[in-house]
Amino acid sequence: MAVPSFKRKHRLSDGHALPLTSSRTPSPPPMSSYGLTRRGLRLIVLAILTAASVLAYLRWHDVWQRFLGHRLPPLYEKVRQNEQRLPHYNEYQHKTVKYFFAANHAHSSGWGNVMQDFVMMGLLAHATNRSFVFDDYIWNPDGSRFSDYNGKLIPSRIPLSALLSGPMVGSPMPAGDYTPRSVSKEFFHKACPNPTVLQVSDVNTDEMRFNDDVPASYVFEKWVEKINSVDDPCLMLDPSSNQIFEIWIFGNKNRMLTIWPYVANSPVATHWGWSPFIHDAYKKNRHLFQPTPPTGIFGGFFDSNIDEDMTAPIPGLLALHVRRGDFKDHCVHLAKWSADWNAFNSFPEFHDKFDRPTDGGWGETSDKNMDHYIQRCYPSIEQIVEKVRQVRMEATEHLRYLYIMTNGPVPWVEELKAALAQDMIWEQVGSSRDLKVTWEQKFIAQALDMYVAQRAQVLIGNGWSSLTSNVVMLRMARGFHPDTNRFW
Ligand SMILES: *[C@@H]1O[C@H](CO)[C@@H](O)[C@H](O)[C@H]1NC(C)=O
Repeated sequence: MAVPSFKRKHRLSDGHALPLTSSRTPSPPPMSSYGLTRRGLRLIVLAILTAASVLAYLRWHDVWQRFLGHRLPPLYEKVRQNEQRLPHYNEYQHKTVKYFFAANHAHSSGWGNVMQDFVMMGLLAHATNRSFVFDDYIWNPDGSRFSDYNGKLIPSRIPLSALLSGPMVGSPMPAGDYTPRSVSKEFFHKACPNPTVLQVSDVNTDEMRFNDDVPASYVFEKWVEKINSVDDPCLMLDPSSNQIFEIWIFGNKNRMLTIWPYVANSPVATHWGWSPFIHDAYKKNRHLFQPTPPTGIFGGFFDSNIDEDMTAPIPGLLALHVRRGDFKDHCVHLAKWSADWNAFNSFPEFHDKFDRPTDGGWGETSDKNMDHYIQRCYPSIEQIVEKVRQVRMEATEHLRYLYIMTNGPVPWVEELKAALAQDMIWEQVGSSRDLKVTWEQKFIAQALDMYVAQRAQVLIGNGWSSLTSNVVMLRMARGFHPDTNRFW
């Protein structure tokens, strides 16, 4: 605390004025006025200084931190508080509601992978008519508030409703659906102090985990059976268990696509919603995605008054998902192991397909295979330009705006934008790097990209990316034509 350390300094410098200058420079003789003793004056100055810094700290916490060069990431406290007082809790406290809490949620990986796990667990809760218990999006489960990510501080955990809205975070189910609403983990623990705990390994045999012939629908049905055999309304998966659906199954299109009938008919996908942070960020940046917005009755006066269907396709928009950075090594790794496309990137109706090479494999592959993986996973600027031209010519819609979702460095993104603009005439070419977002939105901006990609008239995605797969899932669940999902 500030006060004791001031006191200590004060005592050390006894006989001098406050040590404003270095100790080697002799201080000017202390002034005394209005009959105050030196000691009294010092105490008053100290009190004023302390009060001023406390006030400044409280009032300009953010400005202060920025000034000191380490502004702390947001903790989304308001959102978190809101999750603890959803309107149905009161009713749920006084009746028996069945819950399903997958306390083993994926963590420490990107939002794409974690979202896949949330989706699958949401489906399972819905299929067994249990309230889905939602948890934070956890980057670091060690109990810290902030974590270091490539030298930058990020929140260790983000309340799920900072990212999402809708049934996954407790909004009402669609009309006619009587599945109990979702609740927070904290509410679950209050309602269920002694839940039945299941181990994932009780059901998932090695056969189910690793055998390429075991479809995801089989694993899902086994779990529905298991959960339905439990009478206890309070049910959770052991936090230390593996995920029910692991990378082995998400990375195999034949296994994964069998789950589609469950996804397509579940509010988890059909009523998936993004949070107010994301919708606000969309509106703020609308000129990047939709330079000529739809005109409602009050359209054109105030941005927020534009009468926009927030789930409809954005006319004329072609969104590109261009993974850079860590994907360079990742794509090489995928090639060496002949990895297949992720989850929902391989519907048989899709135009762009990927035939996994059969002559590569266990840790190395041919140059030809490597080139093919790089072109489709980490395309060069020329390859991107060519694909964009091809997709635009083949599209039945008139595509005129481009939005590039990317984690690439700004100079590279600018080079790409220039190359695209030189090849064809676009009314607008924007990228993730052009977004203007608030401090709170900054740490969840990936969801803004996903929301835009979900609504783009046509998307070109990365077949190995879980983020692309999640977007494609939402597009398919919303009835977008399969031809509007394209891949590098
Ligand atoms: C699900 O459970 C609720 C009670 O929580 C019940 O009203 C509803 O009919 C059940 N739905 C189905 C499909 O069994």
